Amino acid sequence: MSSELQNIKNRFGIIGNFPALNRALEKSIQVAPTDISVLVIGESGVGKEFIPKIIHSESKRKHQPYIVVNCGAIPEGTIDSELFGHEKGAFTGATATRKGYFEVADGGTIFLDEVGELPLQTQVRLLRVLESGEFMKVGSSQVQKTNVRIVAATNVNMMKAIHDGRFREDLFYRLNTVQIDMPALRERKGDIHLLFRKFAIDFAEKYRMPELELDSSAVHYIESYAFPGNVRQLRNLVEQMTVVERERNVTVAKLAEYIPMDAHLPMVVNHTQNHQKQSDFGNEREIMYKILFDMRNDLNDLKSLTSELIKNRGTADLSNQEKNLINRIYTPETQQTANANSLLYFENNNNNNQNIQNVQNPTIISNSDDSYEDFEDIEVEENTPESLSLQNNEKDLIIKALEKHNGRRNRAADELGISQRTLYRKIKQYNLEE
Ligand SMILES: Nc1ncnc2c1ncn2[C@@H]1O[C@H](COP(=O)(O)OP(=O)(O)OP(=O)(O)O)[C@@H](O)[C@H]1O
Ligand SMILES: [Mg+2]
Repeated sequence: MSSELQNIKNRFGIIGNFPALNRALEKSIQVAPTDISVLVIGESGVGKEFIPKIIHSESKRKHQPYIVVNCGAIPEGTIDSELFGHEKGAFTGATATRKGYFEVADGGTIFLDEVGELPLQTQVRLLRVLESGEFMKVGSSQVQKTNVRIVAATNVNMMKAIHDGRFREDLFYRLNTVQIDMPALRERKGDIHLLFRKFAIDFAEKYRMPELELDSSAVHYIESYAFPGNVRQLRNLVEQMTVVERERNVTVAKLAEYIPMDAHLPMVVNHTQNHQKQSDFGNEREIMYKILFDMRNDLNDLKSLTSELIKNRGTADLSNQEKNLINRIYTPETQQTANANSLLYFENNNNNNQNIQNVQNPTIISNSDDSYEDFEDIEVEENTPESLSLQNNEKDLIIKALEKHNGRRNRAADELGISQRTLYRKIKQYNLEE
């Protein structure tokens, strides 16, 4: 790693060694001395705000103003006036002439955060100032000049926003002269523990507590979590645990209280470098499909493991409840409902071997005295094709998620890893409205 890069990381407290993160930081250092507009793209909480700060501090503008504008937080009615200023009397309440950020930041840098949220009429003004350095105060017809370098950031899919008519294509290409992609935390697993340790130290100091430490299985667990809220979520997690937990050694069980196992969704990592493609979550079907396959594989692994254990250990010391459970697990679902559980049972015979029997369908599970063979048979049966219809499985998952969250659609959508809008659409599609 170049000393310049290490130096930047130290100055800004940036943790991580993942190549894509290093590339993003190096690109910022490279473009800093120019006046080129930069668009930073990345999911929420990935650290996009470091980039404009690095660019400003490494540019010849560093002694001039640096202004951060959160485009999503300013009401549509006042944003033009905030950015470009207004004349006295331009609108009700405009009791005096006011300078806008583009005038104040002359010679410096403006960071337009959440640029995808800019109203269309402001986008027109912004395009003009980017192309010619010219702007007019609201209510004025006098053209003014300014020299401002723009760095913008977004966590929305700009291609979609353009397609939907919410963002001007010409402005996008003007802002996007250089694009810097910040990788999601789940794409840089190796950085998760490093960040955990850094935050553990920071919060231990802040709250005057000993540092939290992950035990080795907890490291593995946290690294397999998808972190939808990225570094911000990890930071909040460590802060919360530092304050709330008494035990400083963090185990998997403790972590699971904060990031439950069912939130460890299999991750679909798109290896393309193009973030526009990466952030295109339109491919939900593919994601659901992957989730279903992974769950099925996990389940099959678990079944083989249990079967292996029972083979080695025998079933003599299993309770009735455990036997029932095994019967249920090793019986195809279709059959379970048809048989209403009553036709499958363990029979304790004299030599203490327990045979799993299906009295209605003796061809599936042999009635031999050798319980091991029975398990072989069961596995064969278990492997018969089950419904792989994506639609059926998708519908079931949606029903389960809605039930689990008592019909609360926002939580169900979160759990399913899809947007609320998509969930509404699917509820309609599958007639699940009531
Ligand atoms: N690599 C990192 N090292 C240390 N801290 C980090 C790193 N990346 C992000 N953070 C911290 O995570 C938090 C979120 O980062 P930031 O505010 O830059 O996110 P963002 O990408 O701008 O998200 P949003 O789109 O929601 O605004 C901040 O507290 C930031 O300091
Ligand atoms: Mg931000």
